[in-house]
Amino acid sequence: MNVAVPRLEAKHLLRRYGGRVVVNDVSLHVNPGQVTCLLGPSGCGKSTTLRMIAGVEMQDSGEIYVDGSLICDTVFRVPPERRNIGLMFQDFALFPHLKVGENVAFGLSGDKAVMARRVSELLERVGLADYGNAYPHELSGGEQQRVALARALAPRPSIMLMDEPFSGLDNRLRDGIRDETLEILREQDTAVLLVTHEPEEAMRMADNIALMRDGRIVQEGAPYNIYNAPADRDAVAFFSDINVIRGKVEGSLVQTPFGQFLAPGVHEGNEVEIVIRPQHVKIDFDRSGRGPDPTIEYGTPARGVVKRARFMGSESLVEFRMDHDGSIFRVTVPNVFLPAEGKVMWLMIRRNKCFLFPIKRTNAA
Ligand SMILES: Nc1ncnc2c1ncn2[C@@H]1O[C@H](COP(=O)(O)OP(=O)(O)OP(=O)(O)O)[C@@H](O)[C@H]1O
Ligand SMILES: [Mg+2]
Repeated sequence: MNVAVPRLEAKHLLRRYGGRVVVNDVSLHVNPGQVTCLLGPSGCGKSTTLRMIAGVEMQDSGEIYVDGSLICDTVFRVPPERRNIGLMFQDFALFPHLKVGENVAFGLSGDKAVMARRVSELLERVGLADYGNAYPHELSGGEQQRVALARALAPRPSIMLMDEPFSGLDNRLRDGIRDETLEILREQDTAVLLVTHEPEEAMRMADNIALMRDGRIVQEGAPYNIYNAPADRDAVAFFSDINVIRGKVEGSLVQTPFGQFLAPGVHEGNEVEIVIRPQHVKIDFDRSGRGPDPTIEYGTPARGVVKRARFMGSESLVEFRMDHDGSIFRVTVPNVFLPAEGKVMWLMIRRNKCFLFPIKRTNAA
């Protein structure tokens, strides 16, 4: 059987700066026509990873392959300009002395008429058909960014590396450009490695997300899996606000003010954290000091008092102070409901939406 070779593959990349490891054993792959997203907080090593793949920075160890062929390890190195990799970086720069059309044509060669057609086709697709003869300084920041995008796409790179390429655009423009860019890249069967620190952007664009933290990839998978089967508490927290309940496993169960939770596979006596997103907490009214009856789906209700309620547009965010320990619980509810501060209510947790993680001990003691 012919096993498909990834268009781009990085194996065990490692990079140190002044003795500190900032990219630590990163392996990833991207298939043709697919988008892999490197997602993680500021400083976790995303741009450094991308720069090594682009060839503008050398890894301390690890290898990079394109279509199964080695293009870079610590001794052998194909120079950046011969990698057929398109780049769209955070700090993109257009050539100020070249017109917009000339900027887009920069990486092209060959027949003049063919080049001109390609340039006008791309300018049209990024919504700048009439700007070919303008100079970069005559364009807004967002327009310049779209020119940079057209320039990167022009030579039909087989791999496109994008580092927060849409960060300078306002929301509505951004959605349009983002979708359009993806469409062009998919049409050309380009393999895209996209860096972002925004979970929404990653979910919207990626076929595959590699979640990065402190230089390492902590989880990799389709957006649906990363969101619904997160590897740890921080992976949940990266995508949304979280609520956390702590407890100890006794007889395979954890007793909490919200009822008991199953703790499969966790050792007896271990502490666990039960993590729940604000949209999976249900709230109900107080009936003369009593809450709703327990259910299998939602367990037992626990009582809290509204500390703050904020209208957020499509939904409201309500913060409760819980009676049992004074902790804060965040709940999102449909926007029609905005309870008054001080109101007593009952909270219930959607069992099949919460995540249970053993608490990691930071040292072996
Ligand atoms: N040339 C350099 N010299 C020294 N340290 C560097 C250098 N480049 C990056 N670093 C450090 O390496 C770490 C990773 O940086 P990197 O730019 O890869 O992060 P990032 O994930 O892209 O962050 P952001 O989302 O803020 O762009 C950071 O702590 C940064 O300060
Ligand atoms: Mg960066």
